[in-house]
Amino acid sequence: MRSLARVNTHTRKQTMTLAPSPLYTRSRAEHARRKAVIAGGVNSNVRLAGTPVPLTIARGSGALLWDVDDNVYIDYAAGMGPMVLGHAHPEVTNAVQQSLATGQLFAGQNQLEAEFAETFVGVLPWVESIRLGMSGTEMDLLAVRISRATTGRTKVVRFTGHYHGWLDPLFVNMGVTPEPMGAVPLTAGQSAAAAADVILCDWNNIEQVDRALESGDVACVLMEPVMCNSGLIQPAPGYLEAVKKLCNQHGALFIIDEVITGFRLGLTGAQGALGIHGDISIYAKAIASGFPLAVLGTTTDLLASVGRGEVNHAGTYNTGVSSVAAGIATLRVLIDSDPYPEMARLTQRLADGLRRLASDTDINLAVDYIGGSLCQTRFGKPDPVTSLADHVANSDPDLLGRFLEALQDHGVRPTSRGLWFVSAAHDDALIDKTLEAAGQALAQL
Ligand SMILES: Cc1ncc(COP(=O)(O)O)c(C=O)c1O
Repeated sequence: MRSLARVNTHTRKQTMTLAPSPLYTRSRAEHARRKAVIAGGVNSNVRLAGTPVPLTIARGSGALLWDVDDNVYIDYAAGMGPMVLGHAHPEVTNAVQQSLATGQLFAGQNQLEAEFAETFVGVLPWVESIRLGMSGTEMDLLAVRISRATTGRTKVVRFTGHYHGWLDPLFVNMGVTPEPMGAVPLTAGQSAAAAADVILCDWNNIEQVDRALESGDVACVLMEPVMCNSGLIQPAPGYLEAVKKLCNQHGALFIIDEVITGFRLGLTGAQGALGIHGDISIYAKAIASGFPLAVLGTTTDLLASVGRGEVNHAGTYNTGVSSVAAGIATLRVLIDSDPYPEMARLTQRLADGLRRLASDTDINLAVDYIGGSLCQTRFGKPDPVTSLADHVANSDPDLLGRFLEALQDHGVRPTSRGLWFVSAAHDDALIDKTLEAAGQALAQL
């Protein structure tokens, strides 16, 4: 057991001499138990990356997590993004508790759906009409389907390093591509035919988008507005505008996937912050505090084909009452309390503090921070990276892995790829403790 007050009593050097680490005894036992009946002991392959063992978390509250060994963590993984208000936010918990008494699924609409949709549309000026689903993956696929139905074309232009879910048509190679290229499936068992409709481009390279669109038959261009799935990389000045212009010229739809950035970079997400919007926008993670809710938002015209039933969108669990209740409560708190300036201030403090710690050592820890409440740690040049190739050349995955493991031993838990999410529940005292732990982690590398 490690309490926050004692985070510095257990060093990585000690864990290396003690094998297996006594910090994670119960997590190891839980993992072994699950592994006997659950493939790999996890239910999302991303969680296989947990070291020295995928942790079993007992509970979360605010910005803190407790694992089954009673270790306390300052949480920056935020459930991979959704916990923008922190864990078990009282207003969300209350709304969900009240909703449970009404039942969950009616094979019909519920009374909360209109309120959620009106609130959502009220925040984002470029969204007139929405459809709700359960995950970012499926809403990205719905966006592609609407694009194909609208344009009568097939191909999807997307970008290496970006992620749009794990299903066959969009889960394609994430590596650096020197030229627009055909997609290569990323996983065993994937349909090469489904992936073949994707043309991959290098992000922040407008010539490649131009050439891909010139090749014809492109229904849509799909991107994260800020690359968050392979480093944290800003669009180059004018890039989004240039892509939008090319889409208009070629009659392709511009789909902006705000699954990470939506309601996180600010209330109006990346599109609000950058002053540009696409034809279709996708939101998930931060809109419902960890409950399964995702949104496709666009114009009434573009969604009309779905409303008429010509473009199919379905799902047994869509708009379960508790998810919609969580969504309304989350949006209400975000709108009413406007936590964004404070989250940005704390994230800036975190980024500056980490950079300062690194400058006191000869370790080349770099922190990419672009505003909002997320930042990326990597080991490479300190200047911001501008492309996937630049990110790859300036990242040392082994060193990052060791840093993250040492941080975890000291009670700090960013995501397994070095992306940090700050929530409305973090405060200066937690940032101070985080920096203290980071200093100790760096000293052990
Ligand atoms: C940008 C982006 N799009 C889509 C997805 C897929 O969302 P989900 O995991 O809800 O299916 C993710 C997941 O991390 C994402 O980061």
